[in-house]
Amino acid sequence: MKTREEAWELVCEFVQDVGLRRHMLAVSAAMRFYAGQLGEDANYWGIVGLIHDFDWEVHSDLDRHPIQGAAILRERGWDEETIRVILSHYTEGTGVLREKPVDFALLACDEITGLIIASALVRPSMNVGDVKISSIRKKWKTPRFAAGVDRQHVEEVTADFSRVCFDGKLELWEHIGNVLTAMQGAAEMLELDGRLAN
Ligand SMILES: [Fe+2]
Ligand SMILES: [Fe+2]
Repeated sequence: MKTREEAWELVCEFVQDVGLRRHMLAVSAAMRFYAGQLGEDANYWGIVGLIHDFDWEVHSDLDRHPIQGAAILRERGWDEETIRVILSHYTEGTGVLREKPVDFALLACDEITGLIIASALVRPSMNVGDVKISSIRKKWKTPRFAAGVDRQHVEEVTADFSRVCFDGKLELWEHIGNVLTAMQGAAEMLELDGRLAN
C-alpha cells in the first residue's frame, strides 16, 4: 500500500493549483475524521481523499476525470482497490458503483468542503477556525455563493452516507458540522489559519 507521502508526491506532481490541492487536503481531513468515527483506517481514508481529484488539472472534464486518472494510478503501481474507490466517486461516468463505507464517505465529504473553504476565504481573518455553522447555513441558502456546490447533490450523497454508515441517523447539518470540525483541525495544512489575511 502506498504511503501518505507517496500520495502527496503524486498530488504535487499533477496539481499546481493551490485551490485544488486545498480541496483534496480538506476532503482528506474529513475522511480521516469519519474513519476515526467509524473505526476504519484513518491513514488510508485520508490518502483516498488526498488523491481523489489528482488528475483534475490534467483531465479537467468528466469525460477524462477520473477514468484517465485511474490509468495513471495503475501505471504507477497503485492497488486496484484504491483505484476502484476513486472511480466510484463518479459512477455516472465510470459505471463503478459505490459499495463500501469509504466510497460513500468520499462523495459525502467531496463537494461540501468547497462551501466551507469559500466561507473561510470570505472572512477578513481567512481563518476556518472563525467559521460558524450558522454562517454556513446562510451561505447554503444563497445560491450565488459558491454556486458550483450543488446543494441538492450534497443532500443526496449525505443521505446515502448516513444510510450506509450511520443507520440513517447522520443529519445533513451534523455532517456539515463534522466536516467543519475536521477542517478546523487541519487549518494549518489548508493554509486557512489566518496566514492568507496578512
Ligand atoms: Fe472528482
Ligand atoms: Fe473532489
